Amino acid sequence: MSLAFRNTPREVEEGSWNLMAADNRSMHGWQSHSSVCWIGAAVVGLYTTAINEWDNKYKDVIYEITKGRDDVRDERDQLKITANNLTQEIQALQDQYVAVVASRDELQAEVNRLSLNRTDNPCHLGWKKFNKKCYYVSSNGVSKTWANSRKDCQERGADLVIITTKEELDFVKKSYSVTWIGLSRGQGGGWTWVDGTDLEGEGFWQDDEPNNADGNENCVEVSRDMAAWNDVPCSRKFSWVCEELDRVRSHSSLSSQN
Ligand code: BGC
Ligand code: CA
Repeated sequence: MSLAFRNTPREVEEGSWNLMAADNRSMHGWQSHSSVCWIGAAVVGLYTTAINEWDNKYKDVIYEITKGRDDVRDERDQLKITANNLTQEIQALQDQYVAVVASRDELQAEVNRLSLNRTDNPCHLGWKKFNKKCYYVSSNGVSKTWANSRKDCQERGADLVIITTKEELDFVKKSYSVTWIGLSRGQGGGWTWVDGTDLEGEGFWQDDEPNNADGNENCVEVSRDMAAWNDVPCSRKFSWVCEELDRVRSHSSLSSQN
């Protein structure tokens, strides 16, 4: 017994499936065969349509995913280029910064040099200018040991005066009868300025000085009357003259410009 479908309008209307008797099957054989073909074709059609639809959808999805991936790749490549450009920009800016800093330092050094050489460069209030340099002359009636005189100068951002010219000597000696200067006996017994340099040349000693008369005459004063130096004990108390510190430090270069 086999399953067959009758395709009469009535039966279709009724929407029912029937099993037919064996003798009826031969009569309806060609019809059954035709129905099967139609149904098969329909199934194949539907299947093909479904496959095509699914295929199209799948292709769309694949296309979207591929496009998305390519877009992300493009974006990544663009970002790489941007990052590379930024790295180059940073390097260029760093180079510029270094160059600007170097240029600024050069200009600052030039400003310092020019400012030091300005003839109208003013001294601090209470200081005296002589030959482009600033000096502090101790107050009238105040006297100190050599060490305490030097301490006073250092507290003013200065040091005891270093004398390199006869003009400077005359400027320093004129205020008081006796004035401390920045010269003392060093460790090795030679005469040393407060900036650590040794006395060069003959200096401006009084006749027969330095004589170390007291046996401990390790500091140097300048006498107004004699206009020259004498070694005396450092514990003596006199007036003193300070010279601005950076000018003391760059003394040799300054004195050569005077
Ligand atoms: C001497 C100086 C000495 C001083 C000490 C003077 O008579 O000529 O050399 O330094 O005495 O007070
Ligand atoms: Ca002496």
